Amino acid sequence: MNVHPRKKMGLPTQSERYRKLIEISKIVNSTLEIDSLLDLVIETILSAFEAEGCSLVLRQPGTDELYFRSTAGPAKEKIKKFRLKLGEGVAGKVALDGKPLLIADARSDGRVRHDISNDVGVPARSIVCTPLSVDGKLVGSIEVINPRSRAGFDGDDLEFLCAVSDSIALAVRNARLFTQVISEKETLSRLLKLQPTIVGNSETMKNIFSLVNRIVKTDVTVLITGETGTGKNLLARFIHETSHRQHQLFVEVNCAAIPDTLIESELFGHEKGAFTGASYLRKGKFELADNGTLCLDEIGDLTPRAQAKLLRAIEEQRFERIGSNTTLTTDVRILVTTNRDLSQCVREGQFRDDLYYRLNQIQLHLPPLRTRREDIMQLIEHYLDKYNQEFEKSVKAISTPAKNFLLDYDWPGNVRELKNMIKRAVLLCDDDEIKCEHLPLLTRPGREKETVAGPEKFPSLDELEKLHIISALQRAEGMKKKAAELLGISRSTLDRKIEVHKIAL
Ligand SMILES: Nc1ncnc2c1ncn2[C@@H]1O[C@H](COP(=O)(O)OP(=O)(O)O)[C@@H](O)[C@H]1O
Ligand SMILES: [Mg+2]
Repeated sequence: MNVHPRKKMGLPTQSERYRKLIEISKIVNSTLEIDSLLDLVIETILSAFEAEGCSLVLRQPGTDELYFRSTAGPAKEKIKKFRLKLGEGVAGKVALDGKPLLIADARSDGRVRHDISNDVGVPARSIVCTPLSVDGKLVGSIEVINPRSRAGFDGDDLEFLCAVSDSIALAVRNARLFTQVISEKETLSRLLKLQPTIVGNSETMKNIFSLVNRIVKTDVTVLITGETGTGKNLLARFIHETSHRQHQLFVEVNCAAIPDTLIESELFGHEKGAFTGASYLRKGKFELADNGTLCLDEIGDLTPRAQAKLLRAIEEQRFERIGSNTTLTTDVRILVTTNRDLSQCVREGQFRDDLYYRLNQIQLHLPPLRTRREDIMQLIEHYLDKYNQEFEKSVKAISTPAKNFLLDYDWPGNVRELKNMIKRAVLLCDDDEIKCEHLPLLTRPGREKETVAGPEKFPSLDELEKLHIISALQRAEGMKKKAAELLGISRSTLDRKIEVHKIAL
């Protein structure tokens, strides 16, 4: 029997090598999980070369540093603690030049980092190293060190490693793509898990969820608009909870609720004695939210002076407490909400345009509930569940007339109104079914009790008007001016209607 000349010399034959090459490409195609895949490939190369060590060195994206991504051989763990600069050592040089390198005798070669190979206990005798490029870009190199039963590597070894590195480049590329897909999948499923707190299966809500998903990894400022009660604050919290800042604070400031004179101190804090009444040092919300998220609620209500200060704080991430000359730096992610049309406020000169453009990096609009009716049933079920648990009730059903009412109603107070209505109904309900009498808009004194068989009396327009005014007054917490605004009528018209309908205040 003929013995292959390379075999005679103790070298692996070409056919053995091709078998290894096939083995490697099989591995590359068999699994996409990056860690196990690359480790397996590097181990296989080590055995194909019958070498003392093999490493895959990759460039840290965005830097000039290389790290040992996968290693094989007796020093495989020790070598991982080292970093190389691009151009440094054999692996660094090949990763920079993009040219394969054979160093048959490495013992006194100045390009070799002998300190590293001595330190890990594998002094370098001979090295082959090839560059690794993915999609035309150099990403690192692959290095094999010291053939076990020979003095040094030769040209065949270099050629073989070149062939193998193409397969590895493919593996790295696939694995990178796969890791990207996995992480997108993970954030999506994280979002889905959180979703019970924010309900919605309408196209609008699905679009909002997918936009939120696309910005999870960024610190982009988001302007959330929508009528009152549409879920602006809930969405802001949701964005925070899905962001990388989720373990830091989520701080809210309601710009509409704080008097003009106090808003600056609320945002930036004050020193003790800074003004009358400042009897202690107070940290502002910008300081408290450092590393976290600051949600500026109803930003349209901010005074021009506060707008100017806010712009600087956001642009420069710097501010001073009132009464202090020391500039503080901060790293906050800003989210803002408003129920106003801010662009109109800008046109009318009430809101600074530079601040508006700074805040309006991404806008998410939550439409009124009446325009996304597909969400109503899901919201009802969500809040039925929540309040059943909270009040230890077991209300399981809603009568058909009550359900029809809930589905047809216009929900001027949006989700907040729906939530309150379901809460009240669950509290009032003594058995397991919500009926019209449990819903405030349909409850009138002397109203006949709804029976399962009997259809509901259809309310007259006059009755509905009265009930609608009562509901507006309830939502405006008794403030007639606000109730008139909600109803889109003047204050005097409202007064007249209150009298006509004999509404007791
Ligand atoms: N999509 C939703 N899913 C579940 N609850 C919601 C949703 N939208 C709003 N809510 C609830 O409705 C109430 C009002 O929401 P909020 O975010 O305060 O509205 P806004 O800030 O727009 O006035 C909150 O209790 C909130 O939890
Ligand atoms: Mg709000």
